[in-house]
Amino acid sequence: MSMRSHYCGELRDSHIGEEVSLCGWVQRRRDHGGVIFLDMRDREGIVQVVFDPDIEESFALADHVRNEYVLQIKGKVRARDEAMINPKMATGRIEILGTTLEILNASETPPFQLDAYANVGEDVRLRYRYMDLRRPEMQSKLILRSRANHTVRNYLEGRGFIDIETPILTRATPEGARDYLVPSRTQPGHFFALPQSPQLFKQLLMISGFERYYQIARCFRDEDLRADRQPEFTQIDIETSFESEQEIMALTEGMLREVFKSVLEVELPTFPVMTHAEAMRRFGSDKPDLRIDLELVDVDDLLADVEFKVFSEPANDAESRVVALRLPDGEKLSRKNIDDYTKFVGNYGARGLAYIKVNDRATGIEGLQSPILKFLPDDVIEKLMDRVGAETGDVVFFGADKNTVVNESMGALRCKLGEDLGLIRGEWAPCWVVDIPMFEKATDGRWTPIHHPFTAPSCTADELLNNPGVALSQAYDVVLNGCELGGGSIRIHKLEMQHAVFQVLGIDQEAQVKFGFLLDALKYGAPPHGGIAIGFDRLIMLMTGAKAIREVIAFPKTQTATCLLTDAPGQVDASQLRELSIRLKFDKPKISES
Ligand code: AMO
Ligand code: AMP
Repeated sequence: MSMRSHYCGELRDSHIGEEVSLCGWVQRRRDHGGVIFLDMRDREGIVQVVFDPDIEESFALADHVRNEYVLQIKGKVRARDEAMINPKMATGRIEILGTTLEILNASETPPFQLDAYANVGEDVRLRYRYMDLRRPEMQSKLILRSRANHTVRNYLEGRGFIDIETPILTRATPEGARDYLVPSRTQPGHFFALPQSPQLFKQLLMISGFERYYQIARCFRDEDLRADRQPEFTQIDIETSFESEQEIMALTEGMLREVFKSVLEVELPTFPVMTHAEAMRRFGSDKPDLRIDLELVDVDDLLADVEFKVFSEPANDAESRVVALRLPDGEKLSRKNIDDYTKFVGNYGARGLAYIKVNDRATGIEGLQSPILKFLPDDVIEKLMDRVGAETGDVVFFGADKNTVVNESMGALRCKLGEDLGLIRGEWAPCWVVDIPMFEKATDGRWTPIHHPFTAPSCTADELLNNPGVALSQAYDVVLNGCELGGGSIRIHKLEMQHAVFQVLGIDQEAQVKFGFLLDALKYGAPPHGGIAIGFDRLIMLMTGAKAIREVIAFPKTQTATCLLTDAPGQVDASQLRELSIRLKFDKPKISES
C-alpha cells in the first residue's frame, strides 16, 4: 500500500468523511489548550491536522514534533466549525482528525523559518537552497517552469521539430562572452570549451538535412553577472531550413503566445515589429519597454544655431543627438527629485539634465520655468514646446551628447520615470526589433558583430565590404516588457559571404582555425537556414514576476559565479592537476574576498 492516499493540499469539502493517509513536513505546530494543531505541508499545499489527547500515543508524538519534521499521519477528513473556516487557505474549510502519527524523520531547527525567509540574506537561502525550495512560492515557480517547458516541447514537436542534443564538451562557440574551459587529460595542454550556445551545431544539423531542430539547451558564458544573467542558463534553441525571417518570427510568436495562454491563461497582444533605428530613436534602447508611453523626440534641427553650446555642439555632430522627453504632470517633481534624476543620468555618462517646467502653456514663454531659458531664443523655445506637444503641468527634459550617451541615459531615465511615477500600463508588451545593424565599432575601433558572425546581412558581400557601418542584418530580437527575451537571424549559407563577414571583422585567418569545420560544411550543399534562441530563464522570470533569474533556477550561482550550496568552484588535488598537466602559478589557490 502506498504511504499516502492524497496530497495535503488537494483535500476539500468533497473529501469529508474519508479516511486519508498523508505524508509531509510540519509547517507549524500549535498547542491550543490540550489540543495540538499541526499544519502539514507537501508539494500541493497545506492542511490542518488536529490531535486530541484521548488518542494517547499519537497525541504524545504530536506533542513531540517540531517544524520541518517529516510525518506520515492517518486520520479522517472533517468539516471545520463555521467559526474556524479559513478562507485564505485552499483547504481552509476542512481539517483532519488525526488517529495515528509516525515520525519518518526529525529535523534540526531550520537555519531560517520558511515563512520568514525575507529576514535572512540571499546567501543563507542559497547555502540552504534545499530548505528555500520547500517554500510554496519557490515550488510554484519551478512547477510553472516545468509546465512551460512541456508546452514549448508540445508546440514544437507538433510542428515537426526534432529535439537533438549537441555537445557540452566542445570548442569555443561565438557569442561574445568568455569561455568556460575544461582541460583535457588525454591531450595535455588542450582544452574543451563549454558551449556559449549550440549555434554552430544547429547550423550543421541544417546542413545535415534535419530541416527543423530544437533543444532546451544549457549554455555557459563567463561574463559579468546581473539580475537577468547567470553563468549557466537555458535557451529554447530553434533552427529551421528554407524559411523566411517572417516565418521564423511567426513561429516564435505563436510559441510564446501558446506558453502564456496554457500556463498563465494570458492572451498576449500581437507583437508589433519595429526597426532597430526606430527603437533607438524613440526609446533610446534596442529593447524598449512599450508599457511606458514616454518617448524621446529629436530636436537637433531646432538647436543647430543656438549659442548654448551644450545643445548646439551635439546638434551639429553626426554622431551625437539632442532629445527632449516630455513628462506629463512632471510639475509634481520637486527640485530634489530633479537633482536625483540628474545624478541618475550621470551614471550613464550624461553631463547634465536640462529641463523646462511648463507652469502655464497658454502664456507662452512667461509660463515656462527653467535655468536654460536664458540661453535660448524665444522662437526656438516655442518650437521645442510645440514639437513635444507640451501642456500645462509638464516637465520637458533634455539630453544632449554622443548618441550612445543620450540613448543610454535618456532611455534609462524614461524607464525610471515610468516606474517611479506609476506610468507602467498594461501587463504585457512584447515586440520585435528588426533591421539590426550588422556591426558596431568596439572601443579599439574594430568592427564587432552585434549578433554573432554567422548572421546574414541584407546586402551583397560587396556592399558589406565597402560600407560595413551601414549594413543591416537579417536578425530579429524579441523583447518583452523591456527585457531582451531572445534573438535570432537568417544565417549565412554561402562561403563567400561568410568570408566577407570574417574579413570585415578582421578574423578571416583566425576563423579558419576556429570555425574551419563550419566553413568546410558550407561547401557541401548548405541550405538557406535560420533560427532563434529564447532565454528560457528570462521568460520564466517574467512569467512569475520574479526579480532575478536566480529565483527561477533551482540551484543558481551568486553574482560572483559561485555556488554557495556545493561551494563550487572548488580546489582540486595536486594529483588531479598533475594528470591534467596543469601547474598553478601559486601554491595555494587564491580565495577571492567574497
Ligand atoms: P543570444 O546570445 O542573443 O543568441 O542569446 C539568446 C537569449 O539567451 C538569453 N541569455 C541569457 N540568459 C541568462 N543568462 C545569460 N548569461 C544569458 N545570455 C543570453 C537571452 C538572449 O536573448 N545562438 C544565438 C541565437 C540564434 O542566433 O539563434 C544566441 O545565443 O534571453
Ligand atoms: P550648465 O551651463 O553646464 O550649468 O548647464 C545648464 C543646464 O543644462 C543644467 O540644467 C544642466 O543640467 C544641463 N546640461 C548640461 N549638460 C547637459 C547635457 N549634455 N545634456 C543635457 N543637459 C545638460
